[in-house]
Amino acid sequence: MMRQAGRFLPEYRAILERTDFLTVCHTPELATEVTLQPVRRLGVDAAILFADILLPLETLGVGLDFGKGVGPRIERPVRRREDLSGLSAPAVDRDLGYVFDAVRSIRRELDGQVPLIGFAGTPWTVAAYLVEGGTSKYHDHLLGWSYRDPQGLARLLEHLADLTVDYLLGQVEAGAQAIQLFDSWGGLLDLERWRALALPPVVRILEGLGNRVPTIFYVRGGAHLLTGLAELPVDVLSVDWRQPLSQVREVVGTGKVLQGNLDPGALLGTPDEVRARTRALLEDGRGGGHIANLGHGILPMTPVANAQAFVDTVQGSGGRR
Ligand code: CP3
Repeated sequence: MMRQAGRFLPEYRAILERTDFLTVCHTPELATEVTLQPVRRLGVDAAILFADILLPLETLGVGLDFGKGVGPRIERPVRRREDLSGLSAPAVDRDLGYVFDAVRSIRRELDGQVPLIGFAGTPWTVAAYLVEGGTSKYHDHLLGWSYRDPQGLARLLEHLADLTVDYLLGQVEAGAQAIQLFDSWGGLLDLERWRALALPPVVRILEGLGNRVPTIFYVRGGAHLLTGLAELPVDVLSVDWRQPLSQVREVVGTGKVLQGNLDPGALLGTPDEVRARTRALLEDGRGGGHIANLGHGILPMTPVANAQAFVDTVQGSGGRR
């Protein structure tokens, strides 16, 4: 489940009462504990590294912070071509070695029970925070830059792509067994602009990674991007809930496994309703390979019993474990 390690679990909240989000990320023992919590509690079929798509920004010297309850903040946003020269040269091992230590520690603790997924954001999606300075309502700085000086923005995205390659290779070398790329803001773009702006840095990342591990590409609000997504050299395409998987399959063909796409809101209903929706999802995803998942992050107020009903229904479905 997306965001399975996190706020809907009381044992996660207990840790966050004593410390803060970035400290958990920076401390391999805590990141390990939080990564393992949903594996122990729910029996999910894979662990996802506890980290954040914005952590790589720490090596650019832009001042990343997560205020309690306010989401990410970037002290020195990058908003124009001239700002690029102010970025520090990335030094992934020096500044992000704690993530690789966490990966090694999680692999040791998991001891082969389930695989570990590493991840990063796509450059376009990371830029949606780096350019805006945090979560944004209008994305006016990013969109403004993209129309005013697309070449300048492309240089930032390329820089983020190179940093992301080093970051992901570090995760893979430390033991991540699959990589998921999150393009949570890809849907802001029409297909032509997505191809022009968001796609080239993604291709650069995938080429840099090589075929070392299976790759999963997540897009939110990307139903209009499917013809472009179908051409991506990834193993798994992960989509949100706005379109049935069977329709996604029609556009994407049989070359990729699909991942998703239960509405996270469905986990706020009754456990019976969760089971019924999950069975319908499994039916919709039949044929061609399907990894049952949510269509976006699990909501913090989700009852644990409902997350459990989702997992149990998927695992009892007779599908391959
Ligand atoms: O189980 C997991 O999925 C593991 C870890 C994980 C986190 N963030 C931890 C986190 C993953 C895979 C992410 C990805 C991420 N981070 C994305 C892509 C997926 C998506 O949700 O679209 C994005 C856009 C971010 C950026 C981000 N991080 C935002 C906007 C916020 C604040 C709002 C929010 O959704 O919570 C965060 C903070 C964050 N990252 C939390 C967690 C558990 C919440 C911290 C807290 O308050 O406890």
